[in-house]
Amino acid sequence: MSAAPIGIFDSGVGGLSVWRQVVHHLPGESVLYLADQAHVPYGNRSATEIQGHCLAIADHLVQAGCKAIVVACNTASAVALQPLRERFSQLPILGLEPAVKPAVGLTRSGVVGVMATPATFQGELYRATVGRCAGSVQVVEQVCIGLADLVERGQLEGPDCDATLRRFLEPMLAAGADTIVLGCTHYPFVIEAIRRLVGPGLAVLDPAPAVARHLGEVLQQRGLGIEPGAAAPLHRFLTSGDAAAFDRAVARLVGADCRSQPLRWCRSPEGEAVLVPA
Ligand code: DGL
Repeated sequence: MSAAPIGIFDSGVGGLSVWRQVVHHLPGESVLYLADQAHVPYGNRSATEIQGHCLAIADHLVQAGCKAIVVACNTASAVALQPLRERFSQLPILGLEPAVKPAVGLTRSGVVGVMATPATFQGELYRATVGRCAGSVQVVEQVCIGLADLVERGQLEGPDCDATLRRFLEPMLAAGADTIVLGCTHYPFVIEAIRRLVGPGLAVLDPAPAVARHLGEVLQQRGLGIEPGAAAPLHRFLTSGDAAAFDRAVARLVGADCRSQPLRWCRSPEGEAVLVPA
């Protein structure tokens, strides 16, 4: 049993779609959320660069006493999950991957659409999942450059948002997809707009609830769950970007009132990138 916080991180606000499910499914647990907004978006960066950021972020969360880490970013999971698990083998590290398997189980048309960033589609994790699960189902990959930025800016509705979404949805619909996988944690914040644009006949999948349930199981198995009768959970937020803007985004996206702590990137004496209080 442990009252230590769960660390959750993403390039920005997208991981809050996982945060809200973790808080919902594991209401007694404290969570420390870190948004690397100095580097958002991750999706068009190189694997080496993303891995470097992720290792430093995990180091910061481990130093802060986290008992488990959720990489609440498909892009970061695609390229950094393995090195993270190797470097921090002492604690459970969960990642996100596009929910191809449930989509393959659901589709009736035999065509599934996946929305994600370029780095996610290039990662081995995604390739392996498709290879393992797709079988005879056709998987249509839709790179959604700019969609995470729209969510970062808080543009969750309106004509510009609809126009961007239509551009990404149309190729998948034209191919006959009846099931759409949200393969980036930013996208669940526009799920209502997506559902409205594709109509009621299509399933749109957000993997966050399944990830939160799996996290609960892992904590139980490792004896890391919160003790019954423990003190009220504490939810803290960190960002390497603009703290006041992030606080407003947290309020708007998940309804939480927070005063996030700003962080800044700098070099350690050994020349490694590290996060320190700003
Ligand atoms: N939220 C991240 C993901 O799940 C991506 C956004 C970005 O490109 O930084 O892939």
